[in-house]
Amino acid sequence: MSTGRRIFVAVGVLSACLVGAASAQAQDTIKVGLIISMTGQQASTGKQVKAGVDLYLQRHGTSVASKKIQLILRDSASVPDNTRRLAEDLIKTEKVDVLAGFEITPAALVVAPLATAAKTVEVVMAAGTSIITERSPYIVRTSFTVAQSCVLIADWAAANKIRKVVTIVSDYAPGHDAEQSFTERFKAAGGTVAEAIRAPLAGPDFAPLLQRAADAKPDAIFIFVPAGQGSLFMKQFAERGLDKSGIKLIGPGDVTDDDLLPTMGDAALGTVTAHLYSADHDSAMNQAYVAAFEKAAGFRPNFMSVGGYDGMHLIYEALKKTKGKADGDTLIAAMKGLSWESPRGPVSIDPETRDIVQNIYIRKVEKKNGQIYNVEFATFDAVKDPVKAAKK
Ligand code: PHB
Repeated sequence: MSTGRRIFVAVGVLSACLVGAASAQAQDTIKVGLIISMTGQQASTGKQVKAGVDLYLQRHGTSVASKKIQLILRDSASVPDNTRRLAEDLIKTEKVDVLAGFEITPAALVVAPLATAAKTVEVVMAAGTSIITERSPYIVRTSFTVAQSCVLIADWAAANKIRKVVTIVSDYAPGHDAEQSFTERFKAAGGTVAEAIRAPLAGPDFAPLLQRAADAKPDAIFIFVPAGQGSLFMKQFAERGLDKSGIKLIGPGDVTDDDLLPTMGDAALGTVTAHLYSADHDSAMNQAYVAAFEKAAGFRPNFMSVGGYDGMHLIYEALKKTKGKADGDTLIAAMKGLSWESPRGPVSIDPETRDIVQNIYIRKVEKKNGQIYNVEFATFDAVKDPVKAAKK
């Protein structure tokens, strides 16, 4: 062999070794791409989810099933088009094993075809429209469906002398789910909906909508706004004197978001909602969760935080089951049917729909030791998404 050819062969062998080393290293690392809104309109949701994820890693370490867990954070800036671009890049360049996060339904939906094409598991930690999990066989959800809470607050309203309601919802997919699931159930129980009002998702002004609602003289206003908009709604509700008008405020618990509740003041007192999580949830696990979360993050956890925390738990437990195998088909199969104790109470992943099954609590906003909380007073066990259940 000539000297030139010998060098050529040696370089070839060396680069083959380097490629081998790189792929061995890659196989030892499970990459989780977390795409969430750290800035923009849904920044409060992003911060909650991220803090939930961080707390899980802090408590459970960054290795599981002999694999190192690498978290790759990308800020969607609350723009679903960014989410799509970032997901494409994480799949192609970083070769992530799992995509996670998604602060809002449109963000979860734009990633669905990418997850399917790449056979990559998509863990939806924050969005709540029922159809999301039907958009890809690789989607699993640790957040909630809006309808899970809306049907139960409809039952509560009908059983508590509320006959006439005006609904106000954000005008996009989860708001439409909220309006429909509440209205169907409330009407079936004999109630009437005097008006169905929709508010824009971006930059809503609730004042004229609340006036319209009040003019219809309902027993209650049913409200759905996504996490982060509750304090503006409550401020405008109080400015019109509606908190003292005798018109009750009901809805899923997004409006009395634990994160914002301390800033809402007395106007929020008495609001009755149905939801999956309260920082006041009475369990030893939750008390420890709230204390550790507040210490690490510096703010109170809300229902979005447990979507992040439980999403990481789901990934860890599935990896234990697969002994570290992380291809999409193996991982999603391992996730189906998993159940565990969450700070919110017992939860599981429905093996048929890949949606979360969880307790829904009826709560009233009350002051406790000078602080405002959603105080739970009734529990509905193991609630499945009612929209999918009705399709069967
Ligand atoms: C959603 O876009 O699916 C969504 C976001 C925030 C919520 C509920 C639903 O509080």
